[in-house]
Amino acid sequence: MRPIRLNRNAVHLNEPLPWDVFDAGGTLLLRRGFRIQLPEQIDQLIVRGAYVADTALPAYAPAAARPERERKTPIADPVGVWQRTEGRLSKLLHDFERTPDFVARMREIAPLVSDLCERDADLALFQMMRWHGTNYAVAHAVHAATLSELISRRLGWPQHQREKLLQAALSMNVGMRQMQTSLASQTSPLTGAQREVINQHPVRGLCLLESAGVEDQDWLRAVALHHQPPESMSARMRHGSAAQLAEVIRLSDIFGAKVSPRASRPALSADQALRETFIGHGGSDNPLVAALVRELGIYPPGTGVRLSSGEVGLVMRRGERANEPKVFATHNRAGQYYMEPVVRDTARSQFAVVGTVPAERFQQLTINPARVFGYEARTRLRPFDSLEFEL
Ligand SMILES: [Fe+2]
Repeated sequence: MRPIRLNRNAVHLNEPLPWDVFDAGGTLLLRRGFRIQLPEQIDQLIVRGAYVADTALPAYAPAAARPERERKTPIADPVGVWQRTEGRLSKLLHDFERTPDFVARMREIAPLVSDLCERDADLALFQMMRWHGTNYAVAHAVHAATLSELISRRLGWPQHQREKLLQAALSMNVGMRQMQTSLASQTSPLTGAQREVINQHPVRGLCLLESAGVEDQDWLRAVALHHQPPESMSARMRHGSAAQLAEVIRLSDIFGAKVSPRASRPALSADQALRETFIGHGGSDNPLVAALVRELGIYPPGTGVRLSSGEVGLVMRRGERANEPKVFATHNRAGQYYMEPVVRDTARSQFAVVGTVPAERFQQLTINPARVFGYEARTRLRPFDSLEFEL
């Protein structure tokens, strides 16, 4: 069973449970059909941690949930659309106070992140892991939104909840947007004033979003709570849907920051960042962390790896198994660049991954994601013909 944690809104008084409910250890707590008759019983259940099998999720979605959006024509140029999406978000956050239709604009941008993740999640992760640009605030918001979307999709959250999650993730740091990018290039310790801005930015973000016309309470409260550990919240607050959104955003925020380089420190490797995040957030007892690990695998796209062949390369796509990604080898066993990168299937023992390689090893390498992932409009050479692309 892949457990999905129930929230308070999923359980209704005096209504037969539509699924069997388990605790975190998989022990059956309540049978399908059981009726809970006291609100306190629901509270106890949620506090204890109540889970359903993900196969039960269609019934788990609220009846009023909107149907999944109709799929449009697949995005032909996801690399270009990612760039334009970041550009739109950058403009929106920059012109925040001067954008009267902020909510409408954000509601256009958030589904783009979802569509791009659906189109090619490997590309999304590759770009996150390989990021070394200058506008950290915007890139970090997009990375956190991407991770949030992938986690929530894996957990089977309904679309209307994922939309709120994306809107909150993309706007989580609006309360410190001017300072965030400069902090990424700062090597000196934080000043007292900077620390104050950081401490206040979740609540300030809520106020700014309210003044910009955001009325959705889950969106607002998720931004206000996105740095607050669940254990520090009151039981009532902890089990609201906003707290669930905030917990996913917090996890994505922390992991995304670990794998991004700062002036004060290099990016952590994906496996180290995953290990630290896993340990720091309750390990396998936390279904959100478990979903993050399952989604990314051990070597997410963009990770530098060394192969048993002695070659070094970058992961481009996750494999069937967590430790068997598709890799394009960039250096041969003598450390020389390949003129054309060679795709290696690490499920084959002679190309198995034997370790990670720091991102700095690839700094001199100019990589065109459109070409690597097969989206270049006019590809003169196709070095990756051995892979199938979703064209
Ligand atoms: Fe934040």
